[in-house]
Amino acid sequence: MTKQPWIRRARRALLSAGTTAVLAAGLLTATAGNSQAATQQPCDIYAAGGTPCVAAHSTTRALYAGYGGPLYQVRRASDSATRDIGVLSTGGYADAAAQDAFCANTSCVITVIYDESGKGNSLTQAPAGGAAGGPDNLANAFEAPVTVGGHKAYGVYVAPGTGYRNDHTNGIATGDQSEGMYAIFNGKHFNGGCCFDYGNAETNDHDTGNGHMEAVYFGNNNVWGSGSGNGPWVMADLENGLFSGVNTRFNAGDPTVTNRFLSAMVKGAPNQWAIRGGDAQSGSLSTFYSGVRPNASGYNPMHKEGSIILGIGGDNSKGAQGTFYEGVMTSGYPSDATENAVQANITAAGYSSASTSTGSLTPGSRISLQATTAPCCTADYLRHDDADNKVVISNINSASSATDKADATWIARAGLANSSCLSFESVDNPGQFLHHYNYELYLSADTGSGSFAQDATFCPTTGNSGVGRSFQSVNFPTKYLRHYNFTAYIGSNGGSNAWDSTSSWAQDTSWLTASPWS
Ligand code: AHR
Repeated sequence: MTKQPWIRRARRALLSAGTTAVLAAGLLTATAGNSQAATQQPCDIYAAGGTPCVAAHSTTRALYAGYGGPLYQVRRASDSATRDIGVLSTGGYADAAAQDAFCANTSCVITVIYDESGKGNSLTQAPAGGAAGGPDNLANAFEAPVTVGGHKAYGVYVAPGTGYRNDHTNGIATGDQSEGMYAIFNGKHFNGGCCFDYGNAETNDHDTGNGHMEAVYFGNNNVWGSGSGNGPWVMADLENGLFSGVNTRFNAGDPTVTNRFLSAMVKGAPNQWAIRGGDAQSGSLSTFYSGVRPNASGYNPMHKEGSIILGIGGDNSKGAQGTFYEGVMTSGYPSDATENAVQANITAAGYSSASTSTGSLTPGSRISLQATTAPCCTADYLRHDDADNKVVISNINSASSATDKADATWIARAGLANSSCLSFESVDNPGQFLHHYNYELYLSADTGSGSFAQDATFCPTTGNSGVGRSFQSVNFPTKYLRHYNFTAYIGSNGGSNAWDSTSSWAQDTSWLTASPWS
């Protein structure tokens, strides 16, 4: 079979990378802040260090300077058609516009995250495993918008129940063989469920015993191990334990991490392993642990099996949440210097939060916000209540009273707390704004306080279901304007309040910006 051009280019890049390893960090740093792809990407750097990638997954950019193939595949709801999403140029950033065009006026899920290494280790929907439930859900393709090097892209948003896996891999470490891995996560999106992992797991989807996994974990689960502070922590999932260091439970050296974009690394060799991490936007890596295997039985030697998981535990435990942008697994134990050069490449790539456009929500416009959840609510609009100052949804139509129409009409204002976001002022109660209090929505007069401004400011994003817009609370970024039982709240996709229910969350938090009723 004829080799694809990107494979030939990647081979050439790998060979030349071998002679320029020591320059890698400097070359890459020189690209910081511009939108050009680096001359070496993470897998070129690992190859130059003698520890080549054997799996490379990203929905945001090429991980080899010579890669020009597909990054991931989406499937749209309207006709179940699929489309590969590639790069804008060889070695460059994801073509997010292709996703936007293909998924316009419908919703899309991510069906495949392709392996760029040429080993065929792509990730698809995780099957059922030893833990209850499965096969797992696929990620909504629009729920993790991001900007990389000035380019719009989308990450993989793992809500509880979502997971990807490959049980038939090629070249991934088994037994006590050495390997390394890194992932870039959204450091603000996590929970205590088991287990938001990326890395090496069992090939039969069941818990087959201590030492049968070696994956990087991120979250604040403290059932097994924990580090300093309240979490979240980067830990290693080695099966039947999330490890923060040599002790099976607490290790003070593993810090709580707070970066919006987080570089998280784990590597393992015979009786040696390490956890490292850092800010994926700037600066260097810190070593949170490096030393011998944990002092519990079954972890030395290791019994790695070589499947790959994303967003779940080895036995398909799927209570965790998080967001993944890119990650790789290597053959061999990468040196700290190699990983430091990879970190320099990551920070030069230019990850930042997605910029949003207000579109028809231009400040000053009158609008009505129409619910999108079918079949209950598509004729309902966000409105304030006449009986009290609560905010609800209800049916509004051309025969509705003038009062009802006015109650369902809002003036978009530049956000009281952030002018690039929005606040919503009532048309029939001037000076009164939509705001949350105890996570429930109310209409109240602007008090002028900073806290009211925050509670009344929402940042528009692409609709969480892929339809319309969603409105993210500026001071509770995991929570979005949501209707639940016909009352309005700010809710997260899973959480402690009834209105954080994951059921219909994406639809309940997606709104159409309709012509104003009044
Ligand atoms: O090691 C923690 C978790 O324990 C694994 O991910 C899972 O397989 C088991 O339930």
